[in-house]
Amino acid sequence: MKILITGGCGFVGSNLAIFLKNKLNNAKISSLDNLYRKGSEINLKRLKKNKIKNYKIDIKNQKQILRLKKFDIIIDCCAEAAIEISRKNPDRVIHTNLIGTYNILKKVLKDKSKIIFLSSSRVYSIKRLRELIRKQKILSKIKIRKSISEKFSTNSPKSIYGLTKKASEDLIREFSYIFKIKYIINRFGVISGPWQFGKQDQGFVSLWIARHIYKKDLSYIGYGGLGNQIRDIIHIDDVCEIILKQINSISKKFNQTFNIGGGLKNRVSLKQLTIISQNLTGNKFKISKKPKTSDYDIPYYVTDNTKLKKTFNWSPHKSIHIITRDIYLWILKNKKILKKYF
Ligand SMILES: NC(=O)c1ccc[n+]([C@@H]2O[C@H](COP(=O)([O-])OP(=O)(O)OC[C@H]3O[C@@H](n4cnc5c(N)ncnc54)[C@H](O)[C@@H]3O)[C@@H](O)[C@H]2O)c1
Repeated sequence: MKILITGGCGFVGSNLAIFLKNKLNNAKISSLDNLYRKGSEINLKRLKKNKIKNYKIDIKNQKQILRLKKFDIIIDCCAEAAIEISRKNPDRVIHTNLIGTYNILKKVLKDKSKIIFLSSSRVYSIKRLRELIRKQKILSKIKIRKSISEKFSTNSPKSIYGLTKKASEDLIREFSYIFKIKYIINRFGVISGPWQFGKQDQGFVSLWIARHIYKKDLSYIGYGGLGNQIRDIIHIDDVCEIILKQINSISKKFNQTFNIGGGLKNRVSLKQLTIISQNLTGNKFKISKKPKTSDYDIPYYVTDNTKLKKTFNWSPHKSIHIITRDIYLWILKNKKILKKYF
């Protein structure tokens, strides 16, 4: 089996490529990545060490993609994944995420192969997500055990990033309808773990722990600057495990869309993450407050994994404590090299 992972030098792509290389004895794993993301050059070295080839191609370049050899499955992990770029550089988000998916679909069609697409919880309506907690005046008092299923509203604005993910999903479904392409779409919540070069708007768990290790500034942004916003977190190892299951069963279980995330047991507020980071590192410092947040921000997101569990008889199993410990140990082990990335 020949597998191409786009965005293979990114956080998800590189971990997945190495995981699949170790688990699938007869598979040949390749990567496509133009090394745009800061840190991807480090992940490229990890791929090389594991004898995984990277094609340094811009995903916008359809001609070059169509010239590549034939693959059996493409796992599309390439994106401009930072939501705030939606405002600063919408061209980049649309070209990379939407045109990129279109180019990959053309290749899937040419090869008569299958596609596993990494979508996002950001396909859901910002307004509706905010309404979930609107009645609660103080976020810290929220005891809601609400989780979001695939049926949640995708109408109304969701950021240009979210739009490109939803539009890519629809494009995949159109290709499937007319050209009979087999697909799986995974709408992931927050994924975390080693080799993520986290930023405030993408990869905040690794950013939080790293800044505690290096004693660098952090801010609670929005919702009064109290750090009460909540997300559920899934370990990258769990993500790799479920994608392997999907690869092994895609001939039977296909053309479906799943929400995948840490779920209720893995939900954490920023304030709680600060305490975890302090306990791990022994470092404590004042976190500044920025009460106003971005129009794209949401106070709460937790995944409902029911459909995933029913279909694959599988749920994520690595806890917040394992996730944060693994990130902490990764940074400690590579403390000098990683400093400039956080
Ligand atoms: N990390 C998360 O929490 C999360 C959550 C939900 C969905 N996702 C989705 O999962 C996928 C992987 O995310 P990630 O966290 O690994 O992101 P990442 O930024 O670490 O990886 C993306 C990779 O794509 C490459 N890339 C960017 N533009 C490119 C272009 N024009 N041509 C070729 N390569 C290009 C980058 O160099 C990078 O290595 C993305 O589609 C993202 O939207 C991630």
